[in-house]
Amino acid sequence: MLRLYSISLVQFKNYQNRSIQFNERIVGISGPNGIGKTNLLDAIHYLCFTKSYFTRIDGNNISQGYDGFRLEGQFEVWDKPEKAICILRETGKKEFSVNDQLYEKFSRHIGHYPCVIIAPDDIQIITGGSEERRRFMDTLLSQLDAVYLQQLINYNKVLQQRNSLLRSFADTGSKDLSLLSVLDEQLVKPGQGIFERRKEFLIAFLPRAKQFYIEIAKSTSRRPASSTAENINLFYTSELLQASFAELLNLNQSKDIMLMRTTSGVHKDELEFTLNEQPFKNMASQGQRKSLLFALKLAEMEALKNEKGFAPILMLDDVFEKLDEERIVNLLQTVCVENDGQVFITDTSSERLVQHLTPLKKPFQLIDLTN
Ligand SMILES: Nc1ncnc2c1ncn2[C@@H]1O[C@H](COP(=O)(O)OP(=O)(O)OP(=O)(O)O)[C@@H](O)[C@H]1O
Ligand SMILES: [Mg+2]
Repeated sequence: MLRLYSISLVQFKNYQNRSIQFNERIVGISGPNGIGKTNLLDAIHYLCFTKSYFTRIDGNNISQGYDGFRLEGQFEVWDKPEKAICILRETGKKEFSVNDQLYEKFSRHIGHYPCVIIAPDDIQIITGGSEERRRFMDTLLSQLDAVYLQQLINYNKVLQQRNSLLRSFADTGSKDLSLLSVLDEQLVKPGQGIFERRKEFLIAFLPRAKQFYIEIAKSTSRRPASSTAENINLFYTSELLQASFAELLNLNQSKDIMLMRTTSGVHKDELEFTLNEQPFKNMASQGQRKSLLFALKLAEMEALKNEKGFAPILMLDDVFEKLDEERIVNLLQTVCVENDGQVFITDTSSERLVQHLTPLKKPFQLIDLTN
């Protein structure tokens, strides 16, 4: 079991110094635009992932006019209390510790406090470029599998080296093909590993996401005759399904040299979604897109729970927008009642939170950030 009991934020975004206690499993967070609801969720995200969900640059999270920040969370994992601290020093150096043990490699922390966040911009996973969907897969698999995360780190490092070598071929006019083949070898191992893991994982995961979509979209009321059935499908596509990565690198060598970048590999993988056999993002309404996003995230939550033996922390930022009443009820039923993990839900209106949380008949806490 995983719980976050309290958090303290010092010089983090709009929080100069604030401590907040969480004393129920379900926590509603309310307040007007700009009060710091999303920032609070991001602080929790920091403690789970050692970094922000929204920016790669740690310094952006320091309160304006200050030189560093400090976040501290009191967690409980399998009935054992744990204190996680993330400090960004004045020097720009970041430190992360659990029970005063500093991590040498932050990647070691990933997956220790599994967490799933759903934020408004996440709709990009459905509508944006393929890199959004790869990031979704990678965030999930990295929490499940430390080997995968290490392979990903290695892959990206070697990929960059290979791309700069390809660029240097054009710059210098000389081609060091033996160095290229050394890098190819270094790239093949993590690349093939990432592919195998994605493929194996997605075989079970994508059908679960589809089921969650059906659950969210299911209607107890009669739909107008004009509304069509929602037949959605999800596929994993990768060139590596057709040929081994080593073969692909060989096959595409002259193309890569000409284009000065690596044109094949798992950095080109894609998750494809369809609605009634058409590309999902062209066909789907805003509410349907949002439903598919939730379906993916709920399947992520379930996969983490199955692997860890306890539910991840779930953070829902502004999820009520654009969802009809029925879908909101279905979603909350799934995340608050059928799931036993901790849930943080933000909304601008505390009344709307109360209105939606009360019928669930589960204890919940309301935090109004204006107070
Ligand atoms: N580095 C920073 N230093 C100080 N304030 C910051 C910093 N970064 C963001 N903010 C402030 O944080 C506020 C935004 O907070 P946040 O995004 O958490 O609001 P919110 O409650 O989620 O609002 P909304 O309902 O619009 O989503 C803004 O007022 C912004 O100026
Ligand atoms: Mg917000």
